Amino acid sequence: MQSSSLRLGVNIDHVATVRNARGGRYPDPVRAALMAVEAGADGITAHLREDRRHIRDADMEALKSVLPVPLNFEMAATDEMVAMAMRLRPHAACLVPEKREERTTEGGLDIVGARDHLAPRIAALCEAGIRVSLFVEPDERVMDMARRLEAPVVELHTGSYCEAVAEGDAARTAHELARIARAAEYGAGLGLEIHAGHGLALDSVAPVARLPELAELNIGHALIGEAIFVGLAQAVRDMRAAMEAARA
Ligand code: PXP
Repeated sequence: MQSSSLRLGVNIDHVATVRNARGGRYPDPVRAALMAVEAGADGITAHLREDRRHIRDADMEALKSVLPVPLNFEMAATDEMVAMAMRLRPHAACLVPEKREERTTEGGLDIVGARDHLAPRIAALCEAGIRVSLFVEPDERVMDMARRLEAPVVELHTGSYCEAVAEGDAARTAHELARIARAAEYGAGLGLEIHAGHGLALDSVAPVARLPELAELNIGHALIGEAIFVGLAQAVRDMRAAMEAARA
């Protein structure tokens, strides 16, 4: 299955990271989200972590009430977060692993080992009309399990690929990209909608954007970082342009 257009989901967590560094309300992640939408974001992603280190409950509620585009609620598959999603009814819920001590989401969700825990939570979210996405390693066995769990979407973890790009390791970059390409093709063949994200930046996005099965990329840190230098709207426009050039 080939996706004709590639959506850009902008993750605004790190606007909240900056806000929380000083307390108070500035900068406001909701304002950033609206600016990103104005600049061409197709959706907004926010991760409400258990420790509330960046996005807070009130941010999620404000995003849900003002956004003119789909809200992707990134969350751990805990009862607390499932209940929050049921209340909020975002367009999508991306289930991620969460470790308290990690700096960011370090690996994909272990959907093989955790299938018994995940299955009823995925079913409940789907039944509520929320499009469930599983943030997973790019691996064919994992695609099979996502299909068995009846999640409509997988988001392939691009972290290892992006690390290889950053290290300038051409062989590892090619290896990691090939894993993503294989998983995307295999997963799409099973009927899964394929997303990708984590660590993507202007110097790494094109080869991933070029993969024909991909329907959406979710990008945060690089956009918020680049916004310091060129402004958020320009950073979003530059990322979109890179994605579109890669697809053309
Ligand atoms: N997708 C998922 C599931 C994530 O956990 C993250 C990080 O919060 C991203 C995409 C965005 O990653 P980055 O901030 O490195 O662009």
